Amino acid sequence: GLANVGVVGLAVMGSNLARNLARHGHTVAVFNRTHARTLAHLESYAVDGTFVGAETVEEFVSSLERPRRIIIMVQAGAGTDAVIDELLPHLDEGDIVVDGGNAQFTDTRRREARLRELGLHFVGTGISGGEVGALNGPSIMPGGSRESYAALGPILESIAAKVDGEPCCAWMGPDGAGHFVKMVHNGIEYADMQFIAEAYDVLSAAGMSAAEVADVFREWNTGELDSFLVEITAEVLDRVDPETGRALVDVITDAAEQKGTGRWTVQSGLELGVPVSTIAESVFARAASGDVAIRDAAQGVLSGPDRALGDVDRSALVDQVREALWASKVVAYAQGLEQIRAASEEYGWDVDVATVARIWRGGCIIRARLLSQISDEYAAGGLATLLVAPSIVAGMAERQDGWRRVVGVATSAGVPVPGFSSALAYYDTVRADRLPAALIQGLRDNFGAHTYGRVDRPGTFHTPWSQGGAEIQMS
Ligand code: 6PG
Repeated sequence: GLANVGVVGLAVMGSNLARNLARHGHTVAVFNRTHARTLAHLESYAVDGTFVGAETVEEFVSSLERPRRIIIMVQAGAGTDAVIDELLPHLDEGDIVVDGGNAQFTDTRRREARLRELGLHFVGTGISGGEVGALNGPSIMPGGSRESYAALGPILESIAAKVDGEPCCAWMGPDGAGHFVKMVHNGIEYADMQFIAEAYDVLSAAGMSAAEVADVFREWNTGELDSFLVEITAEVLDRVDPETGRALVDVITDAAEQKGTGRWTVQSGLELGVPVSTIAESVFARAASGDVAIRDAAQGVLSGPDRALGDVDRSALVDQVREALWASKVVAYAQGLEQIRAASEEYGWDVDVATVARIWRGGCIIRARLLSQISDEYAAGGLATLLVAPSIVAGMAERQDGWRRVVGVATSAGVPVPGFSSALAYYDTVRADRLPAALIQGLRDNFGAHTYGRVDRPGTFHTPWSQGGAEIQMS
Protein backbone atom coordinates (compact mmCIF):
# COMPACT_ATOMS: atom_id res chain seq x y z
CA GLY A 1 0.00 0.00 0.00
CA LEU A 2 0.89 3.66 0.02
CA ALA A 3 3.18 5.09 2.67
CA ASN A 4 1.60 7.56 5.10
CA VAL A 5 4.81 9.51 5.69
CA GLY A 6 8.10 9.98 3.83
CA VAL A 7 11.64 10.88 4.84
CA VAL A 8 14.16 12.49 2.49
CA GLY A 9 17.79 12.25 3.63
CA LEU A 10 19.00 9.11 5.32
CA ALA A 11 22.08 10.33 7.19
CA VAL A 12 21.95 9.28 10.85
CA MET A 13 19.25 11.76 11.96
CA GLY A 14 16.98 11.01 8.99
CA SER A 15 17.53 7.28 9.14
CA ASN A 16 16.84 7.17 12.87
CA LEU A 17 13.72 9.29 12.50
CA ALA A 18 12.47 6.99 9.74
CA ARG A 19 13.10 3.95 11.99
CA ASN A 20 11.26 5.63 14.86
CA LEU A 21 8.29 6.25 12.53
CA ALA A 22 8.33 2.63 11.31
CA ARG A 23 8.50 1.33 14.87
CA HIS A 24 5.32 3.26 15.59
CA GLY A 25 3.43 1.46 12.84
CA HIS A 26 3.80 4.02 10.07
CA THR A 27 4.58 2.94 6.54
CA VAL A 28 7.58 5.08 5.72
CA ALA A 29 8.71 6.04 2.22
CA VAL A 30 12.45 6.69 2.20
CA PHE A 31 14.63 8.48 -0.29
CA ASN A 32 18.27 9.48 -0.33
CA ARG A 33 20.16 11.26 -3.11
CA THR A 34 22.71 8.45 -3.17
CA HIS A 35 20.56 5.38 -3.73
CA ALA A 36 23.08 3.04 -2.08
CA ARG A 37 22.26 4.65 1.23
CA THR A 38 18.54 3.97 0.72
CA LEU A 39 19.33 0.34 -0.04
CA ALA A 40 21.56 0.08 3.04
CA HIS A 41 18.76 1.53 5.18
CA LEU A 42 16.21 -0.94 3.80
CA GLU A 43 18.56 -3.84 4.36
CA SER A 44 19.59 -2.91 7.89
CA TYR A 45 16.32 -1.75 9.39
CA ALA A 46 13.57 -3.95 7.98
CA VAL A 47 13.14 -5.23 11.55
CA ASP A 48 11.85 -1.81 12.58
CA GLY A 49 8.76 -1.96 10.39
CA THR A 50 7.61 -1.17 6.87
CA PHE A 51 9.72 0.98 4.55
CA VAL A 52 9.09 1.78 0.92
CA GLY A 53 12.39 2.57 -0.78
CA ALA A 54 12.45 4.90 -3.79
CA GLU A 55 15.18 5.42 -6.33
CA THR A 56 13.88 8.70 -7.76
CA VAL A 57 12.06 11.68 -6.31
CA GLU A 58 9.13 10.92 -8.60
CA GLU A 59 8.89 7.35 -7.35
CA PHE A 60 9.18 8.58 -3.77
CA VAL A 61 6.39 11.13 -4.14
CA SER A 62 4.05 8.69 -5.86
CA SER A 63 4.54 6.13 -3.07
CA LEU A 64 2.87 8.49 -0.59
CA GLU A 65 -0.82 8.78 0.26
CA ARG A 66 -2.36 12.26 0.02
CA PRO A 67 -2.08 14.77 1.47
CA ARG A 68 1.57 13.77 1.36
CA ARG A 69 3.64 14.22 4.46
CA ILE A 70 7.31 14.53 3.57
CA ILE A 71 9.99 15.13 6.18
CA ILE A 72 13.25 16.58 4.87
CA MET A 73 16.24 15.62 6.98
CA VAL A 74 19.24 17.15 5.26
CA GLN A 75 21.99 19.54 6.37
CA ALA A 76 20.35 22.93 6.88
CA GLY A 77 21.02 25.54 4.22
CA ALA A 78 21.22 25.32 0.45
CA GLY A 79 20.58 21.56 0.58
CA THR A 80 17.09 22.17 1.93
CA ASP A 81 16.21 24.49 -0.95
CA ALA A 82 17.61 21.97 -3.43
CA VAL A 83 15.39 19.19 -2.06
CA ILE A 84 12.34 21.48 -2.06
CA ASP A 85 13.03 22.42 -5.70
CA GLU A 86 13.28 18.75 -6.64
CA LEU A 87 10.04 17.84 -4.85
CA LEU A 88 7.89 20.76 -6.05
CA PRO A 89 7.05 19.62 -9.62
CA HIS A 90 5.65 16.34 -8.24
CA LEU A 91 3.54 17.65 -5.37
CA ASP A 92 -0.20 18.37 -5.25
CA GLU A 93 -2.23 21.00 -3.47
CA GLY A 94 -2.48 20.40 0.26
CA ASP A 95 0.71 18.34 0.51
CA ILE A 96 2.85 18.99 3.58
CA VAL A 97 6.60 19.48 3.33
CA VAL A 98 8.40 19.33 6.68
CA ASP A 99 11.92 20.60 7.32
CA GLY A 100 13.38 18.83 10.36
CA GLY A 101 16.82 20.45 10.16
CA ASN A 102 18.27 23.26 12.28
CA ALA A 103 17.15 25.94 9.82
CA GLN A 104 17.42 29.65 10.43
CA PHE A 105 13.83 30.78 11.16
CA THR A 106 14.05 33.56 8.58
CA ASP A 107 14.76 30.92 5.90
CA THR A 108 11.76 29.00 7.16
CA ARG A 109 9.56 32.08 6.86
CA ARG A 110 10.74 32.56 3.29
CA ARG A 111 10.16 28.91 2.34
CA GLU A 112 6.78 28.81 4.02
CA ALA A 113 5.61 31.88 2.11
CA ARG A 114 6.82 30.39 -1.16
CA LEU A 115 5.06 27.06 -0.68
CA ARG A 116 1.89 28.68 0.65
CA GLU A 117 1.64 30.59 -2.66
CA LEU A 118 1.67 27.23 -4.40
CA GLY A 119 -1.09 25.79 -2.22
CA LEU A 120 1.31 23.66 -0.20
CA HIS A 121 2.08 23.55 3.51
CA PHE A 122 5.63 24.08 4.69
CA VAL A 123 6.36 23.08 8.26
CA GLY A 124 9.69 24.11 9.76
CA THR A 125 10.13 21.91 12.79
CA GLY A 126 12.70 21.78 15.53
CA ILE A 127 13.77 18.27 16.42
CA SER A 128 15.96 17.92 19.47
CA GLY A 129 17.63 15.01 21.15
CA GLY A 130 20.45 14.15 18.82
CA GLU A 131 20.75 10.77 17.13
CA VAL A 132 19.45 8.79 20.09
CA GLY A 133 16.49 11.12 20.47
CA ALA A 134 15.57 10.81 16.80
CA LEU A 135 15.40 7.06 17.22
CA ASN A 136 13.83 6.72 20.66
CA GLY A 137 11.76 9.87 21.09
CA PRO A 138 12.86 13.44 20.41
CA SER A 139 11.25 16.69 21.46
CA ILE A 140 9.50 18.08 18.37
CA MET A 141 8.68 21.77 17.78
CA PRO A 142 6.68 22.19 14.56
CA GLY A 143 5.61 25.51 13.07
CA GLY A 144 3.62 26.13 9.88
CA SER A 145 -0.11 26.39 9.36
CA ARG A 146 -2.48 25.21 12.07
CA GLU A 147 -4.28 23.23 9.40
CA SER A 148 -1.15 21.24 8.57
CA TYR A 149 -0.82 20.24 12.21
CA ALA A 150 -4.16 18.45 12.07
CA ALA A 151 -2.75 16.09 9.43
CA LEU A 152 0.83 15.95 10.67
CA GLY A 153 0.57 16.35 14.44
CA PRO A 154 -0.66 12.84 15.31
CA ILE A 155 2.27 11.29 13.41
CA LEU A 156 4.85 13.53 15.07
CA GLU A 157 3.26 13.05 18.48
CA SER A 158 3.40 9.28 18.04
CA ILE A 159 7.20 9.33 17.75
CA ALA A 160 7.97 12.10 20.26
CA ALA A 161 9.31 11.55 23.77
CA LYS A 162 6.57 11.17 26.40
CA VAL A 163 6.53 12.70 29.87
CA ASP A 164 3.70 11.65 32.19
CA GLY A 165 2.06 10.16 29.10
CA GLU A 166 2.09 13.50 27.27
CA PRO A 167 3.99 13.81 23.98
CA CYS A 168 6.86 16.31 23.84
CA CYS A 169 5.45 17.73 20.64
CA ALA A 170 3.01 20.56 20.03
CA TRP A 171 2.21 23.11 17.37
CA MET A 172 4.31 26.17 18.13
CA GLY A 173 2.73 28.69 15.78
CA PRO A 174 2.73 29.83 12.14
CA ASP A 175 5.63 29.91 9.65
CA GLY A 176 9.00 30.19 11.45
CA ALA A 177 7.74 29.70 15.03
CA GLY A 178 8.92 26.09 15.31
CA HIS A 179 12.44 26.78 14.14
CA PHE A 180 12.59 29.91 16.27
CA VAL A 181 11.71 27.89 19.36
CA LYS A 182 14.35 25.30 18.44
CA MET A 183 16.92 28.06 17.95
CA VAL A 184 16.25 29.41 21.43
CA HIS A 185 16.38 25.84 22.78
CA ASN A 186 19.91 25.68 21.42
CA GLY A 187 20.77 29.10 22.86
CA ILE A 188 19.68 27.87 26.28
CA GLU A 189 21.65 24.67 25.62
CA TYR A 190 24.77 26.84 25.14
CA ALA A 191 24.08 28.67 28.42
CA ASP A 192 23.39 25.42 30.32
CA MET A 193 26.65 23.96 29.10
CA GLN A 194 28.60 27.12 29.93
CA PHE A 195 27.22 27.08 33.51
CA ILE A 196 28.09 23.41 33.84
CA ALA A 197 31.61 24.08 32.57
CA GLU A 198 32.03 26.94 35.07
CA ALA A 199 30.79 24.71 37.91
CA TYR A 200 33.40 22.13 36.94
CA ASP A 201 36.08 24.81 36.68
CA VAL A 202 35.34 26.24 40.14
CA LEU A 203 35.33 22.80 41.74
CA SER A 204 38.59 21.93 39.96
CA ALA A 205 40.12 25.14 41.30
CA ALA A 206 39.23 23.86 44.77
CA GLY A 207 41.48 20.88 44.10
CA MET A 208 38.88 18.31 43.05
CA SER A 209 39.75 15.78 40.37
CA ALA A 210 37.56 15.18 37.34
CA ALA A 211 36.36 11.91 38.90
CA GLU A 212 35.45 13.70 42.13
CA VAL A 213 33.53 16.35 40.22
CA ALA A 214 31.80 13.53 38.31
CA ASP A 215 30.54 12.17 41.64
CA VAL A 216 29.19 15.60 42.51
CA PHE A 217 27.29 15.84 39.22
CA ARG A 218 25.93 12.31 39.65
CA GLU A 219 24.63 13.33 43.05
CA TRP A 220 23.17 16.58 41.68
CA ASN A 221 21.34 14.60 39.04
CA THR A 222 19.21 13.00 41.75
CA GLY A 223 17.90 16.37 42.94
CA GLU A 224 16.78 19.78 41.76
CA LEU A 225 19.38 19.79 38.95
CA ASP A 226 18.16 16.49 37.52
CA SER A 227 18.70 16.91 33.77
CA PHE A 228 20.19 15.24 30.73
CA LEU A 229 23.20 17.58 30.53
CA VAL A 230 24.06 17.11 34.21
CA GLU A 231 23.74 13.34 33.75
CA ILE A 232 26.14 13.22 30.79
CA THR A 233 28.53 15.63 32.50
CA ALA A 234 29.17 12.90 35.08
CA GLU A 235 29.71 10.47 32.22
CA VAL A 236 32.18 12.74 30.40
CA LEU A 237 34.14 13.65 33.56
CA ASP A 238 34.42 10.01 34.57
CA ARG A 239 35.94 8.82 31.32
CA VAL A 240 39.63 7.90 31.49
CA ASP A 241 41.80 8.19 28.39
CA PRO A 242 43.21 4.68 27.85
CA GLU A 243 46.28 6.09 26.11
CA THR A 244 47.50 8.43 28.83
CA GLY A 245 45.63 7.12 31.83
CA ARG A 246 44.45 10.68 32.52
CA ALA A 247 40.88 11.92 32.68
CA LEU A 248 39.76 12.25 29.06
CA VAL A 249 38.52 15.80 29.75
CA ASP A 250 42.13 16.75 30.58
CA VAL A 251 43.38 15.71 27.16
CA ILE A 252 40.54 17.20 25.10
CA THR A 253 41.49 20.51 23.41
CA ASP A 254 40.00 23.40 25.39
CA ALA A 255 38.52 25.25 22.40
CA ALA A 256 34.73 24.97 22.13
CA GLU A 257 33.23 24.93 18.65
CA GLN A 258 29.79 25.90 17.40
CA LYS A 259 27.64 25.53 14.36
CA GLY A 260 25.61 28.73 14.53
CA THR A 261 22.33 28.30 16.39
CA GLY A 262 23.70 30.00 19.54
CA ARG A 263 24.95 32.91 17.47
CA TRP A 264 21.58 33.21 15.73
CA THR A 265 19.84 33.33 19.09
CA VAL A 266 21.99 36.25 20.17
CA GLN A 267 21.58 38.05 16.85
CA SER A 268 17.82 37.72 17.15
CA GLY A 269 17.99 38.88 20.78
CA LEU A 270 19.81 42.01 19.64
CA GLU A 271 17.25 42.66 16.93
CA LEU A 272 14.30 42.16 19.28
CA GLY A 273 15.99 44.17 22.04
CA VAL A 274 15.74 41.25 24.47
CA PRO A 275 18.80 40.90 26.72
CA VAL A 276 19.77 37.26 26.30
CA SER A 277 23.01 38.08 28.10
CA THR A 278 23.67 34.61 29.49
CA ILE A 279 23.38 33.11 26.02
CA ALA A 280 25.59 35.84 24.55
CA GLU A 281 28.25 35.22 27.21
CA SER A 282 28.12 31.52 26.39
CA VAL A 283 28.58 32.10 22.67
CA PHE A 284 31.42 34.56 23.37
CA ALA A 285 33.03 32.20 25.89
CA ARG A 286 33.22 29.55 23.16
CA ALA A 287 34.74 32.07 20.77
CA ALA A 288 37.26 33.25 23.38
CA SER A 289 38.28 29.67 24.15
CA GLY A 290 39.03 29.12 20.49
CA ASP A 291 41.07 32.28 20.00
CA VAL A 292 44.44 30.60 20.15
CA ALA A 293 46.48 33.62 19.05
CA ILE A 294 45.16 35.86 21.81
CA ARG A 295 45.37 33.15 24.47
CA ASP A 296 48.96 32.34 23.50
CA ALA A 297 49.92 35.99 23.61
CA ALA A 298 48.29 36.57 27.00
CA GLN A 299 49.31 33.39 28.80
CA GLY A 300 52.11 34.01 31.28
CA VAL A 301 52.07 37.69 30.39
CA LEU A 302 48.90 38.96 32.04
CA SER A 303 49.20 38.94 35.81
CA GLY A 304 46.54 37.69 38.21
CA PRO A 305 45.75 35.13 40.88
CA ASP A 306 46.72 31.54 40.20
CA ARG A 307 43.20 30.03 40.09
CA ALA A 308 43.67 28.20 43.37
CA LEU A 309 40.72 28.52 45.72
CA GLY A 310 43.03 27.48 48.58
CA ASP A 311 41.59 26.29 51.83
CA VAL A 312 37.90 26.07 51.20
CA ASP A 313 35.25 23.93 52.83
CA ARG A 314 34.64 21.63 49.89
CA SER A 315 31.22 20.42 50.86
CA ALA A 316 30.03 23.97 51.44
CA LEU A 317 31.48 25.00 48.09
CA VAL A 318 29.73 22.11 46.34
CA ASP A 319 26.40 23.31 47.75
CA GLN A 320 27.09 26.89 46.71
CA VAL A 321 28.04 25.87 43.19
CA ARG A 322 24.84 23.81 42.95
CA GLU A 323 22.90 26.92 43.94
CA ALA A 324 24.78 29.05 41.40
CA LEU A 325 24.02 26.49 38.73
CA TRP A 326 20.31 26.33 39.53
CA ALA A 327 19.88 30.10 39.79
CA SER A 328 21.87 30.84 36.61
CA LYS A 329 19.94 28.21 34.73
CA VAL A 330 16.67 29.85 35.76
CA VAL A 331 17.94 33.19 34.44
CA ALA A 332 18.88 31.62 31.09
CA TYR A 333 15.38 30.12 30.81
CA ALA A 334 13.81 33.43 31.78
CA GLN A 335 15.80 35.23 29.08
CA GLY A 336 15.22 32.61 26.38
CA LEU A 337 11.49 32.30 27.04
CA GLU A 338 11.17 36.08 27.10
CA GLN A 339 12.85 36.13 23.69
CA ILE A 340 10.26 33.66 22.40
CA ARG A 341 7.47 35.80 23.82
CA ALA A 342 8.90 38.93 22.18
CA ALA A 343 9.39 37.19 18.83
CA SER A 344 5.87 35.83 19.02
CA GLU A 345 4.59 39.38 19.36
CA GLU A 346 6.87 40.73 16.63
CA TYR A 347 5.96 38.05 14.10
CA GLY A 348 2.35 37.47 15.16
CA TRP A 349 2.83 33.83 16.18
CA ASP A 350 0.91 33.64 19.45
CA VAL A 351 3.31 31.05 20.87
CA ASP A 352 2.28 29.63 24.23
CA VAL A 353 5.39 29.73 26.40
CA ALA A 354 3.97 27.22 28.91
CA THR A 355 3.60 24.74 26.04
CA VAL A 356 7.18 25.37 24.93
CA ALA A 357 8.47 24.57 28.43
CA ARG A 358 6.17 21.52 28.55
CA ILE A 359 7.51 19.95 25.36
CA TRP A 360 11.08 20.59 26.53
CA ARG A 361 10.54 18.38 29.59
CA GLY A 362 11.56 15.28 27.64
CA GLY A 363 13.50 14.19 24.59
CA CYS A 364 15.54 17.34 24.00
CA ILE A 365 19.08 18.19 25.04
CA ILE A 366 17.98 20.72 27.70
CA ARG A 367 15.38 18.40 29.26
CA ALA A 368 15.36 18.97 33.01
CA ARG A 369 13.20 18.49 36.06
CA LEU A 370 13.09 22.27 36.43
CA LEU A 371 11.04 22.56 33.23
CA SER A 372 7.92 21.09 34.84
CA GLN A 373 8.00 23.86 37.41
CA ILE A 374 8.62 26.48 34.72
CA SER A 375 5.79 25.18 32.57
CA ASP A 376 3.39 25.19 35.53
CA GLU A 377 4.37 28.73 36.43
CA TYR A 378 3.75 30.03 32.90
CA ALA A 379 0.49 28.10 32.67
CA ALA A 380 -0.73 29.92 35.78
CA GLY A 381 -0.48 33.02 33.60
CA GLY A 382 0.31 36.71 33.86
CA LEU A 383 4.10 36.49 34.30
CA ALA A 384 6.08 39.58 33.22
CA THR A 385 9.17 37.38 33.61
CA LEU A 386 9.76 33.87 34.90
CA LEU A 387 11.83 35.45 37.67
CA VAL A 388 8.72 36.78 39.42
CA ALA A 389 6.91 33.43 39.46
CA PRO A 390 6.20 32.64 43.11
CA SER A 391 8.17 29.39 43.31
CA ILE A 392 11.08 30.96 41.44
CA VAL A 393 11.16 34.02 43.72
CA ALA A 394 11.41 31.66 46.68
CA GLY A 395 14.00 29.48 44.96
CA MET A 396 16.20 32.45 44.14
CA ALA A 397 15.92 33.84 47.67
CA GLU A 398 17.14 30.54 49.07
CA ARG A 399 20.04 30.14 46.68
CA GLN A 400 21.39 33.57 46.07
CA ASP A 401 23.91 33.65 48.93
CA GLY A 402 25.67 30.63 47.49
CA TRP A 403 25.41 32.06 43.99
CA ARG A 404 26.97 35.39 45.03
CA ARG A 405 29.69 33.61 47.00
CA VAL A 406 30.67 31.46 44.01
CA VAL A 407 30.93 34.50 41.73
CA GLY A 408 32.97 36.32 44.40
CA VAL A 409 35.30 33.44 45.25
CA ALA A 410 35.88 32.51 41.61
CA THR A 411 36.53 36.12 40.59
CA SER A 412 39.00 36.63 43.44
CA ALA A 413 40.87 33.48 42.48
CA GLY A 414 41.01 34.40 38.79
CA VAL A 415 38.61 31.69 37.63
CA PRO A 416 36.42 33.21 34.89
CA VAL A 417 32.68 32.70 35.44
CA PRO A 418 31.10 34.82 32.69
CA GLY A 419 27.90 32.76 32.71
CA PHE A 420 27.30 32.80 36.48
CA SER A 421 28.21 36.47 36.78
CA SER A 422 26.14 37.68 33.83
CA ALA A 423 23.14 35.74 35.13
CA LEU A 424 23.60 37.34 38.54
CA ALA A 425 24.07 40.80 37.01
CA TYR A 426 20.78 40.37 35.13
CA TYR A 427 19.01 39.30 38.32
CA ASP A 428 20.35 42.33 40.18
CA THR A 429 19.51 44.59 37.26
CA VAL A 430 15.85 43.70 37.03
CA ARG A 431 15.31 43.85 40.80
CA ALA A 432 17.07 47.22 41.25
CA ASP A 433 14.77 50.14 42.08
CA ARG A 434 17.24 52.55 40.52
CA LEU A 435 19.77 51.92 37.74
CA PRO A 436 22.74 54.02 36.62
CA ALA A 437 21.01 54.24 33.25
CA ALA A 438 20.05 57.70 34.49
CA LEU A 439 23.69 58.74 34.15
CA ILE A 440 23.85 57.30 30.65
CA GLN A 441 20.88 59.45 29.72
CA GLY A 442 22.62 62.47 31.21
CA LEU A 443 25.77 61.76 29.21
CA ARG A 444 23.80 61.31 26.00
CA ASP A 445 22.08 64.60 26.56
CA ASN A 446 25.40 66.28 27.37
CA PHE A 447 27.30 65.30 24.25
CA GLY A 448 24.48 64.95 21.77
CA ALA A 449 21.37 66.68 23.10
CA HIS A 450 19.62 63.30 23.02
CA THR A 451 17.18 64.41 25.76
CA TYR A 452 15.96 62.61 28.88
CA GLY A 453 12.83 62.04 30.91
CA ARG A 454 12.32 63.09 34.54
CA VAL A 455 11.10 60.97 37.43
CA ASP A 456 8.87 63.73 38.76
CA ARG A 457 6.89 64.84 35.72
CA PRO A 458 6.09 63.67 32.17
CA GLY A 459 7.80 65.07 29.09
CA THR A 460 11.14 65.14 27.31
CA PHE A 461 13.89 67.44 28.52
CA HIS A 462 17.25 68.86 27.48
CA THR A 463 19.81 70.77 29.50
CA PRO A 464 22.06 73.19 27.57
CA TRP A 465 25.10 71.85 29.45
CA SER A 466 27.85 74.09 28.10
CA GLN A 467 25.82 77.28 27.84
CA GLY A 468 24.89 77.04 31.50
CA GLY A 469 21.27 77.67 30.61
CA ALA A 470 18.14 76.36 32.30
CA GLU A 471 16.60 73.02 31.43
CA ILE A 472 14.33 73.12 28.39
CA GLN A 473 11.19 71.05 28.06
CA MET A 474 11.23 69.65 24.53
CA SER A 475 7.79 68.00 24.53
C1 6PG B 1 19.70 19.12 19.66
C2 6PG B 1 21.01 19.87 19.51
C3 6PG B 1 21.53 19.82 18.11
C4 6PG B 1 22.73 20.72 17.83
C5 6PG B 1 23.94 20.45 18.65
C6 6PG B 1 25.21 21.09 18.14
O1 6PG B 1 18.76 19.79 20.09
O2 6PG B 1 19.62 17.92 19.42
O3 6PG B 1 20.80 21.21 19.83
O4 6PG B 1 20.48 20.24 17.30
O5 6PG B 1 23.08 20.53 16.49
O6 6PG B 1 23.71 20.81 19.95
O7 6PG B 1 25.26 22.47 18.30
P1 6PG B 1 26.66 23.23 18.25
O8 6PG B 1 27.55 22.47 17.32
O9 6PG B 1 26.38 24.60 17.76
O10 6PG B 1 27.21 23.19 19.65
